[in-house]
Amino acid sequence: METATKTPDQAKMATQATANAATAVVATLAVSGQGALSVAAIQPSKAQQQLTFYCGSNDGDKGLKLTVSAQKTTLYARQVESDFGKHYRHWQPLVEISSGIDADPNCAYWISIDSLNQQFRYGKGEMRAETGLLSYGQGAAETYLAPRENDQPSWLHQITQVEISSSDPVAITRQWTDPVTIKPPLLVSPINQLRMVDVACASKTVAKNLSTACQQLYANISGRDFTLNTEDFPDFADAINASINNPNGWCYQQLARKHQLSDHQDKNENYLRITLGQNQGESPGIPYVMEIWPCQSYSPIHNHANADAIIRVLDGEINVSLFAMLSAHHQQPFASQSFRRDDITWISAGLNQTHQLRNLSQERACITIQCYQYQADNLRHYEYFDYLDDDGKIARFSPDSDMGFLAFKSKMWLEWQQR
Ligand SMILES: [Fe+2]
Repeated sequence: METATKTPDQAKMATQATANAATAVVATLAVSGQGALSVAAIQPSKAQQQLTFYCGSNDGDKGLKLTVSAQKTTLYARQVESDFGKHYRHWQPLVEISSGIDADPNCAYWISIDSLNQQFRYGKGEMRAETGLLSYGQGAAETYLAPRENDQPSWLHQITQVEISSSDPVAITRQWTDPVTIKPPLLVSPINQLRMVDVACASKTVAKNLSTACQQLYANISGRDFTLNTEDFPDFADAINASINNPNGWCYQQLARKHQLSDHQDKNENYLRITLGQNQGESPGIPYVMEIWPCQSYSPIHNHANADAIIRVLDGEINVSLFAMLSAHHQQPFASQSFRRDDITWISAGLNQTHQLRNLSQERACITIQCYQYQADNLRHYEYFDYLDDDGKIARFSPDSDMGFLAFKSKMWLEWQQR
């Protein structure tokens, strides 16, 4: 990231990766000495046994090798020793952790090289600080990446390529020009509410720091008048709450119908989707969806077809938990944050992509607007949101609609008048 609030997705993808037959891949860094990349198995059905990342200095005397084996992951440093005028190179362990090859064969493994901060990181899932498992360079005794002189760059600055070898073929799944540094802020602030302390702490970002698709979506739904309650129906939010709580209300009955058809055991794993407009071919399902979350309701853990998204809370409060990847083996969130009315958060193809939403309130429904758009370079348009079902298996959800917005608003208005 180039600034405290910029997200890595905004950095241009800079991959010149070359797949070499079966077991080796070379990635070229767009900027010497920095970048992040992830790899995953091409044939996930085959169990990976070993994975190695290597990068080295121009003369080959300095280098890092990260080996991920069945039970452990080890970062090695290349050392040179002289004996009777001859130089010998060998690998010396720097850090070792007890986490090895992942139980999920689809797991993406990432590394980050950061010559400016003299840091090397490794992790699994989304490329971000929170999913990091191993880091080297920040401890007082971790001097291998330090420059010989203070005014010299670290030898990491010479790195232009990373070689990845594996027991079974892998492909580069994502590559960024910038290294993994800060935790990406989840709250998108209006420009006039971003304070100096927010940048210093990376606690908020602004839409300009997000992808082009997120910027477009944000521009559509962040305005002052994009509200649930309007002059013609000032009690719209209350009417929705009443309809959820009234056994004769449409919301109550639609939730009951959905639960009957659902494969989820828990009746709280349920919400309503009210769509605005048409699918215009650039999003999974209709791009604008008002979601209604009754008290204590929640979604399964799911992802978003690699689309970008903006979520604004229109009423109530929603809790968002984030996951490293969609996997039965990774159901512990690495972050969780609540958003109140008018708060806005974001999703991109590479960040915040796998989440679970939950209305923790015992008293009031939460109503959000979610909007989705594929990035311009996404020509796959997967069209489904994958989710973990009750058995921990990945299932497909086709983004559907419980009712169009205008019909829904009329229905709520009528129910409210007849109460
Ligand atoms: Fe979602």
